[in-house]
Amino acid sequence: MLKHKYVLDPWSIIENQYDSSNMIDSESIFSLGNGKIGQRGNFEEDFSNNQTIGNYISGIYYRDKTKVGWWKKGYPEYFAKMVNCPNWNKIRISINNTLLDLNKCEVLSYNRELNMKEGWCERKVLLKNDKSEKIEIQSKKFISIKRENLGVINYKIKVFENNVKVEVLPCIDVNIRNNDSNWNEPFLETIESLSKNNLGIVKSNIINSNFEISTFFKTEYLINNKKINSSYSQIESKHLIGCKSKFLLNTDDELTIFKVGGYVNSNDSNKNEFNNIIEKESENALKTGFNELCKENIDEWSKVWEHSDVIIEGDIKSQQAIRFNIFHLNQTFNGNDPKLNIGPKGFTGEKYGGVTYWDTEAFCVPFYLGTKHSSVAKNLLNQRYNQLDNAIKNAKNIGLNHGAALYPMVTVNGEECHNEWEITFEEIHRNAAIAQAIKKYINFTNDHNFLDDEGIKILIAISRFWKERVNYSKVLNKYVILGVTGPNEYENNVDNNWYTNYSAKWCLDYTINQLSEIGNRNVKKHESIIKENNLNNKEISNWKKIIKNIHLPYSKDLNIFIQNDGFLNKDLQPANKIPHNQRPINQNWSWDRILRSPYIKQADVLQGFYFFEDHFTKKELQSNFDFYEQFTVHESSLSACVHSVLASSINDIEKAYEYFVRASRLDLDDYNKEIKQGLHITSMGGSWMSIVEGFAGVRVSNGKLSLNTKIPNNWESYSFKLNVKNRKLSVLITKQETKIKLLQGKEIDIILNNTEITINQ
Ligand code: BGC
Repeated sequence: MLKHKYVLDPWSIIENQYDSSNMIDSESIFSLGNGKIGQRGNFEEDFSNNQTIGNYISGIYYRDKTKVGWWKKGYPEYFAKMVNCPNWNKIRISINNTLLDLNKCEVLSYNRELNMKEGWCERKVLLKNDKSEKIEIQSKKFISIKRENLGVINYKIKVFENNVKVEVLPCIDVNIRNNDSNWNEPFLETIESLSKNNLGIVKSNIINSNFEISTFFKTEYLINNKKINSSYSQIESKHLIGCKSKFLLNTDDELTIFKVGGYVNSNDSNKNEFNNIIEKESENALKTGFNELCKENIDEWSKVWEHSDVIIEGDIKSQQAIRFNIFHLNQTFNGNDPKLNIGPKGFTGEKYGGVTYWDTEAFCVPFYLGTKHSSVAKNLLNQRYNQLDNAIKNAKNIGLNHGAALYPMVTVNGEECHNEWEITFEEIHRNAAIAQAIKKYINFTNDHNFLDDEGIKILIAISRFWKERVNYSKVLNKYVILGVTGPNEYENNVDNNWYTNYSAKWCLDYTINQLSEIGNRNVKKHESIIKENNLNNKEISNWKKIIKNIHLPYSKDLNIFIQNDGFLNKDLQPANKIPHNQRPINQNWSWDRILRSPYIKQADVLQGFYFFEDHFTKKELQSNFDFYEQFTVHESSLSACVHSVLASSINDIEKAYEYFVRASRLDLDDYNKEIKQGLHITSMGGSWMSIVEGFAGVRVSNGKLSLNTKIPNNWESYSFKLNVKNRKLSVLITKQETKIKLLQGKEIDIILNNTEITINQ
């Protein structure tokens, strides 16, 4: 039985064991953020064991010059990486002239709690330092949702003897570098820094860009909860910006350092206004006081939970996990700023650069669509719309013209950043995920204006891409797509990846259907779209030829679609034959061995069954599921959730549950042994999908909402809210029944477990 590292609790993640060498893992778990700024769960005081200090601002990135062994034409010049900013959290402490460093202390008791309901993290440690002096520290902190530039720390030091000399240096640590840097270059440089009494400001310039940021903090001291005036002395340090204060404490005295801090940045504030904003925000925060700020933040979190909570009765493990996932999704992205997006690791780690992948459309849009105002998902789609010209340039770069658009594998502003040819040029299925998100958005919102003005242009350009990318095979008498990588990145440069070919067919078909839907609704609009996009009958009839004649590899004997040409030639040993100590294979096997193996990193054919399920029978789904599941090693976080949704569709609830647990507890239980690199934020959207689309079977098709509800054996009930078709619904599913209430909007006809019903207030 798997042992859970963190205490099972419905609303909190609790760490009650202290293991100095594994704090780097927990730093990921205890990360905090508010959609704009975020940070790993680092200790405030010095810590000399393994750690990754991480503080990030969404949308503030460095262009890290591409570094590859063999330059291929078409590679991008840079990889956009969010910048690890100066650390405003730092508090250097010394007790009787000894630096406080948990790694060098005897820890007598330790408890850290991330309270997801209220959005704060608290750590209490009782320790003896190397001079056997007993000290208690207690730090409570949060990143404010309402005051988007601001984080808040209340740090307490309690002593148990008389005449204890305590020196504290609340400061900004500028000695921070991105860990993931191609040339080991700094990403930012200090323009000016200031430390005066209780205030510290560091203004920095992101190298090779126009971005500027200011990191700041301001403090206040209290002894035994009474504000005190302290004296401040300047320190000599190149790296730490702040002033030191000294205190003499007696038995049971408690010193509190109330520190507010954070960042302002030039993406949304005028550079010349930085100091004014800092002055106002920090002064106002200090005046408001820790308790009020915390209360204000709890209120904000309660609004977030009001819309997005999923309540599970009867299974604390699942309850904790889904809330952990929803909490981090909300910490990473809130939809307030149309310029921002969701990095695969959010603010919790640097892998993947913190920028946009197909993950957003395929795994996150459903969550934000279902739990937030429709403008949030629309903003995400509009970003792709605003980047259409760059996607067209991107396709041109690899030799595809005539208005074809290839959206980047990785991007921040529409320019491609990825630089491994087998993915950059070949993992082209990402285009289809964008079209899928448009479809979901339109189905959920009926926002025809978006389709008419923006969506259709994206769809046309994506269709043109597929037209350019296929070629006609005389041997097969079919259109083929050669040299691609499917979602399964453990096989590259394959021909006729079924998922990619099917996606191409679907995109072309969907675009044609949407054009005629627009025509039926608004003839004039249709005409102007045709004109503006230079569409003619010949082009559309070419698309139709491809739809009809694209090669979709199929095995009659096995009654399955073949993942790609040649897949069945592999030595088809199921993944359960791989010795346990060789998993995950990407950490144990040579790349060559992985490529030749039948092992599938993540849902591939099955990703197609997820997106296109209504094109196939349950029997077809079952045989493809049975065949591919046995070779799938789920070494991408994006795999388990898709398997969970599909297992629900074929009524294998036990399996759907297993996959749901794996998806939602991936980080809490560290399935892939990589948690120190950060959390898998985008796949957290998949955990929500496993419940809402999986167990509850929520779909919108042919203009109608339907639910096909199931419940895992060990759950007594589960409930959630859903924004759909300008309504807000609450859904409660028990073992006996499903109750749907209309919370907002007009009555609506839906299909519940194959029966039409009307939901009204
Ligand atoms: C997956 C991709 C995904 C990326 C970022 C990779 O491991 O294979 O599908 O886009 O991670 O999450």
